[in-house]
This record gives sequence, C-alpha cells and structure tokens, in this order.
Amino acid sequence: MLKISVNSLKPGTRLGKDIYSKDSKLLLRRGTFITQAHLNVFAKRRIREVYILESDLPVKVLPDFECVYNNCLNTVKSFMLRAKLGEGLDFEEIGETIDSLFEQVLNQADILKKMRLIKKRGEYLFSHSVNVALLCMLLGKWLDCEPVTIKELGLAGLFHDIGKVYVDEAILNKPGRLTAAEFEHIKKHTLLGYIFLNDNSWINKSISSAVLMHHERADGSGYPLGKKGYDVNFYAAVVAVADIYDAITSDRVYSPKRSPCVAIETIWDESFGRLNPKITKVFFDRMTSFFMGKRVLLSNNQEGTVVYVDPGEPTKPTVMAGNRLYNLRVDRSISIKRVID
Ligand SMILES: [Fe+2]
Ligand SMILES: [Fe+2]
Repeated sequence: MLKISVNSLKPGTRLGKDIYSKDSKLLLRRGTFITQAHLNVFAKRRIREVYILESDLPVKVLPDFECVYNNCLNTVKSFMLRAKLGEGLDFEEIGETIDSLFEQVLNQADILKKMRLIKKRGEYLFSHSVNVALLCMLLGKWLDCEPVTIKELGLAGLFHDIGKVYVDEAILNKPGRLTAAEFEHIKKHTLLGYIFLNDNSWINKSISSAVLMHHERADGSGYPLGKKGYDVNFYAAVVAVADIYDAITSDRVYSPKRSPCVAIETIWDESFGRLNPKITKVFFDRMTSFFMGKRVLLSNNQEGTVVYVDPGEPTKPTVMAGNRLYNLRVDRSISIKRVID
C-alpha cells in the first residue's frame, strides 16, 4: 500500500484502503477502481491523499542501455580530458553517471550481452573505464553488497585508470611489446591516479586506494606496492577481476578482443593465489549460468547451443551443434571461439 497525492491519481487505479467521510461514514471500499467521478468527489470533499495498491503503480520504463552507455562514455571522456589539464572532478556530474549505471546494473537483464553488443567508438581508455565500472557494480550486486558499496565500486572502476591521462600517449598506445622501461612508466598510472583522486576531497579513501592497488595481487607479485593477501583493498580486488575480464574481451591497440571464455580461463588461472577467492567464486558461479543456452561458435567453426555447464569448468561446457554433442571437458582439442548471442 502506498499513500499518494490525489493530484497524481489516475482513473483505473485501485484504492489500497477504505475511505471514510469526516463523520465516519464509509465512502469507498479498498479495491474500488477510481473513476473520474471519484476524483471529482475527492476534490469536493477536500480529500488530498489516498492509499493505493502498489501493484497498480505504473512500471517504470528503464532507459535504453546503449543511450546510457554513450552518455557515460561522453562524461568519462570529458572529465578525463579535464583531469589531464589539472581540473578537479564534478561531484554532481559523476554522481549522475554512477546513478544511471547503477539503475542499469540493478534492473537490466543480461547486462554482459548488452555490453558485448555495444558498438565501440573512440579511445579504449574511455570505453574500458565505463566497462570496468559496470563490471565492478555487477560483481558488487552478485556479492550482495549494499547499494552505497555498489556505487562506490562503480566509482573505483570508473577511475581505476584515470592516471593513464598523465602517462606518455605514445607508450600507452604502442602497438608492440613494451620495453621494461616503458612498462615501468605505464605502472605509474596507479600512483598518479591516486594522487589526482586525493586532491578531490569528496572521493572516499577506499576508492582512491582501490585505484592505487588495482594491479596488486594477493601473492605480492603486483604493483606499485607489492601488497599481499587481504592487504589488497577489497574494492581493488573487485576492480582487478573486472579489469582482466574487460581488457581481454575488448579490442586494444596491441591485441584484438578475445572470447569471454579466454577471459574466464585467465581469471580462473589467476584465482589460485593472485585474485581474491571470495570474488572469483561468485564470478565463476554466475558465469556458469551466463553460458547456459548461449549460441556459440566452436573452434572447428561449428555453431551450436550450450546445453550443459559444469560449475567446476564453466568455459568447457557441452554444446549441441547440428545433431552432434560436443563435451568440451572431454574433447580438449575444441574450444569456444566466440559467444554469438
Ligand atoms: Fe590499470
Ligand atoms: Fe584497466
């Protein structure tokens, strides 16, 4: 039951509670469909608010995913270019961006598919930032985090590579393999992003720390601090998983995009000692259902449908192609080349 103003009441809505006159006479029963005549009586009797059944509320139409995505992409591009010139972050602009992504992550069905179908445009850094923000929020949702935590995870994802605006573009966009010195230069983006965010006082410390630590690994092999285990901030550990997934499934200057299977397998390999197991467990559980029923292209160029996924190895499902069943756990020579839909 929900109390609403009579001004916003539409004919056809059902009453959620009986209405009585000032002298306690029953005027209308709960469940009555409101007509224009009832609205006129309410106005005459100065009844300003009534209870309605919540099930009668109009269903809110979710904004189009691609539209929201492209708006966010423009915002990211604009604040990153301003950050490069030394300008701070606009609290309201960023807040609106995160709210719009949060609404999509919470209510949009099959967001991973929607992300896959987005036609990429512009620089990788900008789309990668939006993608990692979306994936961090999705992981937050899967981990049953509170809304405020999911939004902060989104901010950590959105800003994780902001320090790259301060590194040498020629090195950042170098198509070939980086030299050791060039890699050392790129590594600075973690610290540079952290310093930039700390100058924006409204940014929570766990978000700036996540940006600093998103390349740290639990075995101490990461950078810039070589932190170990749970010393790696939780937000940073979420960003790490999202970052690997998006980097592998996106086109980059030095490598074309690969299938989600390759990303999942990489995260699987890293989940033994390098990534946070609480996060990777939820990731694999969800990815098991992600593959069920999907159309896939196999490495032997056969198209088929995933009919069974083993939770222990979600990237090696059983696929029905034509009238043949391929169990990819057994037939290791065949793999999934691409997820079609
Ligand atoms: Fe990074
Ligand atoms: Fe990244």
